[in-house]
Amino acid sequence: KMEQTFIMIKPDGVQRGLVGEIIGRFEKKGFTLKGLKLVTVDRAFAEKHYADLSAKPFFNGLVEYIVSGPVVAMVWEGKNVVATGRKIIGATNPAESAPGTIRGDYAIDIGRNVIHGSDAVESGRKEIALWFPEGIAEWRSSLHSWIYE
Ligand code: CMP
Repeated sequence: KMEQTFIMIKPDGVQRGLVGEIIGRFEKKGFTLKGLKLVTVDRAFAEKHYADLSAKPFFNGLVEYIVSGPVVAMVWEGKNVVATGRKIIGATNPAESAPGTIRGDYAIDIGRNVIHGSDAVESGRKEIALWFPEGIAEWRSSLHSWIYE
């Protein structure tokens, strides 16, 4: 199934120099990069992104974490990219994420888990609309079309 997902490298991932490594994993898997920017968001924006979690006890800390520095916001496209992207990322809690996954390899704390990926196609759509209101890149070359067949 052709899909798009929203992937965000969180401030700890950017500050620790993991951007290239993380992008490389999605590239080498064969997914297509459709959107990419480095942005520092404000509180209101972070609260919007995590609106579903506003009742959680960690919500405030989560928002402060996300606004603490630049994040890399991305759109990746490909077959089953939502579910497969979450496999590449690993379980939310790094204590449970398998070695070989991004969180399994690079994180130890659920409050500093390096990366976010949409949990479903529909939330991906919403997140892409929120983070990329200007739209995303158009691929004109047929170079990558074999991935979709
Ligand atoms: P993410 O995939 O971005 O989705 C929601 C985020 O909330 C999650 O990754 C973590 O960063 C954060 N989160 C979830 N549970 C907890 C928790 N128990 N304590 C702190 N942060 C959490």
